[in-house]
Amino acid sequence: MSWIACAPSNIALIKYMGKLDEERNVPLNASLSFTSHDFISRAELSVADNAAGDCWQPFDDEGVFAGIYLSEQEQSKYIKHLGFIKNHLEFSGNFILKSGNNFPKGAGIASSASSFAALTKAAVQAICELKGGVVLPVEQMAALSRIGSGSSCRSFFSPWALWNGEEVKSLSFGEFDHLSHQIIIVSDKAKKVSSSQAHRLVKTSLLYKDRVDRAETRLKQLIKALESDDWHTVFKICWAEFADMHALFATCDEPFSYISGDSVKALNAATSFWSTYGDGPIVTMDAGANVHVFWRQDQSRLQIQFSGLPELAGFKVINDGNHGNKR
Ligand code: DP6
Repeated sequence: MSWIACAPSNIALIKYMGKLDEERNVPLNASLSFTSHDFISRAELSVADNAAGDCWQPFDDEGVFAGIYLSEQEQSKYIKHLGFIKNHLEFSGNFILKSGNNFPKGAGIASSASSFAALTKAAVQAICELKGGVVLPVEQMAALSRIGSGSSCRSFFSPWALWNGEEVKSLSFGEFDHLSHQIIIVSDKAKKVSSSQAHRLVKTSLLYKDRVDRAETRLKQLIKALESDDWHTVFKICWAEFADMHALFATCDEPFSYISGDSVKALNAATSFWSTYGDGPIVTMDAGANVHVFWRQDQSRLQIQFSGLPELAGFKVINDGNHGNKR
């Protein structure tokens, strides 16, 4: 018997950075994210006949989901989360766990968010069915998933997700519910500092003192701008927010940076586009070198113009819905 679940990735415009409770991944500030359409992780559980414990395997013949390998450390974090769910649901059997994404790992798409959400869904379905119980409501699944990786709780809600403390819910912003998401891949190397380490390190920055206030203020401003269709203000707030998070990285006790020369090239392309046309994409960066841009539906001509900019030549651009196109 096997159970399969899929979950989308999400990208935060107001960032989760800094934890109130490290064990339970309770964030210090509320975050707001846009849920991906097509960047998906898939998890499959099947009952293991032996008593050797749970084990992880990549998909080998599952089309786009095949061939994604987790490092030893990633495997053990993933299996630990399965153990946590089994324990929570009082289940003692063992599983073979397979997982994969339809997008490259380490490409700046939050694969931990989608993969932990997919695992949580598959595990809850499997255990509830094996025990003859009712599958948990989505809010409870999101709360369990959060313990594995904080940002994964937002992947249960769309088109937008607002996560505050131990609660997460969907939000909707009219025409902004259908944004087109592109990722400018300037590097596909694995990041040296994980998000979990970053959450710890930022607390040593002198800029951290007012971080929660800044994030909460921006969240209110962003919601207001999204509600009033004020795209330029949305752009300015999102830029200030990712720059704020990256400034924390650069000013902590063991400073680190994800922003490379190529990231700066892509960022400059976006700012000069805005200056030239008086319009452009929302821009954000996560804990990685790649640059995320978002477009409204009515900006499709601008989006094509942007994709053709000589400054972006040579970078791979991945579209949510059209993966892996080399320009
Ligand atoms: C920069 O959810 O990966 O992407 O809870 O330790 O697993 P853990 O951290 P994680 O942190 C994501 C941080 C971020 C910003 C965000 O997604 O809000």
